[in-house]
Amino acid sequence: MQRPVSAWTAAVAIVLAGSIFVAAQEPRPQPPAGGRGGAPGTLQQPRVNAGAADKPGVDPVAAAEGKKIWTVECINCHGANARGTDKGPNLVRSLVVLRDRFGSALGPFLKKGHTLQSGRSSTALTDDQVLMLAHFLRDKVNDTLRGSSDFEVKNILTGDARAGEAYFTGEGKCASCHSPGGDLKGIGTRYEPVDIQQRFLFPRNAGPGGGRGGRGRVSGPAPSAATAITVTVTPPNGEAVSGLLLAMDDFNVSLRDGAGYSRTFARTRGLKVAVNDPLAAHRTLLDSISDKNIHDVVAYLETLK
Ligand code: HEC
Ligand code: HEC
Repeated sequence: MQRPVSAWTAAVAIVLAGSIFVAAQEPRPQPPAGGRGGAPGTLQQPRVNAGAADKPGVDPVAAAEGKKIWTVECINCHGANARGTDKGPNLVRSLVVLRDRFGSALGPFLKKGHTLQSGRSSTALTDDQVLMLAHFLRDKVNDTLRGSSDFEVKNILTGDARAGEAYFTGEGKCASCHSPGGDLKGIGTRYEPVDIQQRFLFPRNAGPGGGRGGRGRVSGPAPSAATAITVTVTPPNGEAVSGLLLAMDDFNVSLRDGAGYSRTFARTRGLKVAVNDPLAAHRTLLDSISDKNIHDVVAYLETLK
């Protein structure tokens, strides 16, 4: 309430951010609160919702950690939203960032040596810190996509419902999984147009981590269990094991099996891993669907009362 109190709060927050940053520089940083399972000291990545190759998912906890590093080392030149200043380019449009997958491009870039605000070289950043920065930057890319004028409410109601229906049954192949008289019956009554658009462009998977991707902007029920990402792992000389995908990276894959046990497999050669994301079609949709198609489909779905 009182001004001195908020000033203190801000000061404490700055000190805290600083100390967390120092802690994160230790060789074996602790996983941020909310990290589950895995070897102690490693960040579980990418959990679920890994996304298509060009649309990696964002772990909100890692992105929040990345923001702290960003504030200490990058913000003066690249800006609060990574859209650039006169001292550094816009990174939301940077190919290094757009092609990055959990540090795969950002890591090598920073390993070459880049100026940091602290005066250190970026080669001092640990892999975990790079990963957190990668999540932060990906989050900014996603914000830009969602915040762009193509996704503004005023544009949403301008579609042509008939063209939307044609796209739904034709080119969009929506009818191969959905039916206007079945699962989508009444969707126009259940949600506001902006939420319909959000639900089909950025659907969320159920399961660990999956339900958190909606950033509070999507109203309505949580994703159904039918959207959980599952995985089947087949060792070279063993039986296939299937379950809910908990985490996967280049080295390990973890799942929860039917009996409720978490199991982790090293991704050695010969280990077959088949991931099934029931929303895969929705993720690849973003690459092919045009703005006009989007508006038309929303107008069409809006007619399903
Ligand atoms: C002193 C200013 C400054 C700071 C601090 C800084 N950068 Fe940069 N950054 C630049 C400039 C200038 C460029 C463009 C020239 C270049 O590539 O080195 C750039 C380029 C980049 C690029 C490549 C963009 C592209 O597409 O080629 C990335 C990625 C990047 N910075 C990330 C970061 C991150 C992450 C941090 C903090 C850990 C950071 N930068 C800190 C000034 C800065
Ligand atoms: C390969 C199957 C598949 C295809 C193709 C597909 N979807 Fe979906 N869609 C799903 C699944 C699975 C869900 C999640 C349903 C749930 O939550 O139970 C979903 C969810 C939705 C939802 C949200 C429903 C709600 O109540 O939240 C909408 C709207 C939607 N899809 C529209 C579309 C449109 C439009 C297309 C074509 C451009 C499309 N879908 C293509 C499988 C598909």
